[in-house]
Amino acid sequence: MKPIRFSLNGKPVEAQCRADMTVLEWLRGEALLRGTKEGCAEGDCGACSVLVKNSGGKASRYLPTNSCILLMGQMQGATLMTVEGLAELGEAGHAIQNEMAINGASQCGFCTPGIVVALAGLLEAKKAPSESEIHDALAGNLCRCTGYRPIVEAAQKAAKSVAPRLPSAKIADSDHEAGSDESRFLLPTDLKSLLKLKKQHPEAVLLAGGTDLALDVSHARARWPLAIVTRKVEELRGIEKSKTHITFGAAVTWAEMLPMVEKHWPSFATLIRRFGSVQIRSMGTLGGNLGTASPIGDGAPSLLALGAEITLARHGKSRTLPLSDYFTGYRKTLRREDEIIESVSIPLPRKGEDFRVYKISKRYDQDISTVCGAFWVSRKAGKVEQARIAFGGMAAVPARCASAEIALVGTSLDEPAFEAASAAIAASFTPMSDMRGTADYRAKVAANLVCRFAQDLEGDIVEVMAL
Ligand SMILES: Cc1cc2nc3c(=O)[nH]c(=O)nc-3n(C[C@H](O)[C@H](O)[C@H](O)COP(=O)(O)OP(=O)(O)OC[C@H]3O[C@@H](n4cnc5c(N)ncnc54)[C@H](O)[C@@H]3O)c2cc1C
Ligand code: FES
Ligand code: FES
Repeated sequence: MKPIRFSLNGKPVEAQCRADMTVLEWLRGEALLRGTKEGCAEGDCGACSVLVKNSGGKASRYLPTNSCILLMGQMQGATLMTVEGLAELGEAGHAIQNEMAINGASQCGFCTPGIVVALAGLLEAKKAPSESEIHDALAGNLCRCTGYRPIVEAAQKAAKSVAPRLPSAKIADSDHEAGSDESRFLLPTDLKSLLKLKKQHPEAVLLAGGTDLALDVSHARARWPLAIVTRKVEELRGIEKSKTHITFGAAVTWAEMLPMVEKHWPSFATLIRRFGSVQIRSMGTLGGNLGTASPIGDGAPSLLALGAEITLARHGKSRTLPLSDYFTGYRKTLRREDEIIESVSIPLPRKGEDFRVYKISKRYDQDISTVCGAFWVSRKAGKVEQARIAFGGMAAVPARCASAEIALVGTSLDEPAFEAASAAIAASFTPMSDMRGTADYRAKVAANLVCRFAQDLEGDIVEVMAL
């Protein structure tokens, strides 16, 4: 047994439990802190939100996270704040707690602790958030009875009062192992150790943020005797910019990627802001997204269209390949069993290049794509030299559409060129029908996105909306 050491509401704790127990289960069942609620147990409703400050990586502040899909082994060396901890701040708790009460922002109250936590996280990051930033912070928190207007007003009022700072408690973080004999997490801090552990324990679960994998625990009641966590591996947490590329380590979270992506590929940043919720983006990683090899994952289409390369590593060896070679079949890739994703490298944009990505989903926020289409062209003297067009949700793998790319090359992106590309897309894919959309709908939407791209290049459409 290796106790899990972390800071809880400003005090150090040592939890003696299975590493694969959810933080929500531990809080409610062991710590008897029952302010944090369970709604969906799959990261969708936000009732279980807690604030987590992780050691390692760039995240040096508290971030709202879903405790229903966060596992105790991931807490080793972290700092955790619950709604009870917020209530103990200052003389009367956190400003947002008071404003929620005074402003009539809570009726049945089930969602309230999660909403308080999400807004406390926002106010920690932004002293005067705009209305749209408040809505963005609440995208992962469902309230069924009060309605969001009084909640947003409470946030605006709380932003005007002097909110007590959240404690910056630090915890000694030297343990590279945590949990019980039944379930143990290994937490290496460098790539060499990670790869060695992967070789020694091929049966271990490889865990990044857990926003995909931990649903197996919270929903399917999976039990993990051993997991290797990537979060603390320094080489996987870096963002490096060279003259030609930006390289993101596989354990970089979507929240950490956002500022750099915003600077170079604003359209990709718009997509990332619609990736799950603040809670999901705090934990979910780029490597985890490509690791799932999901045909509807939101990372792949943009990365394919931007011409990204992926680096895979195993004990003593690494190799880099175009991302377009990586996906080989439904949830199948070229990655060997003993390899991990080390990083993803994207060429920096150059003059004459244009990139747009469109996520089509039933809801704007917190929804999986029905179709995601990404378009990149490079032009010289008004003519297209190269084009890359990639889709998610159209085949068993995220895929480029070579015939549509060919239809654009050499043209001046006039109407006939776009029509030819649109026809090529319609002819190239046989998508499936599911609850998100019929095959026919997907085929039409994907083909029409070419027109959207054309209008965007003309400057006709500014904002990306859900259809
Ligand atoms: C409520 C909710 C909303 C979501 N919304 C979206 C969305 O809008 N768009 C979207 O695309 N996805 C979404 N997801 C899915 C998920 O959040 C993302 O795929 C995320 O990027 C996964 O990253 P992770 O670090 O949490 O992966 P994990 O769950 O830790 O791992 C996922 C898989 O990748 C493997 N893996 C992790 N790291 C590596 C590595 N370095 N090398 C090799 N394999 C690795 C794991 O072994 C596992 O098989 C959502 C999930 C939830 C619960
Ligand atoms: S219980 Fe719904 S997000 Fe965790
Ligand atoms: S107050 Fe009842 S769900 Fe929000």
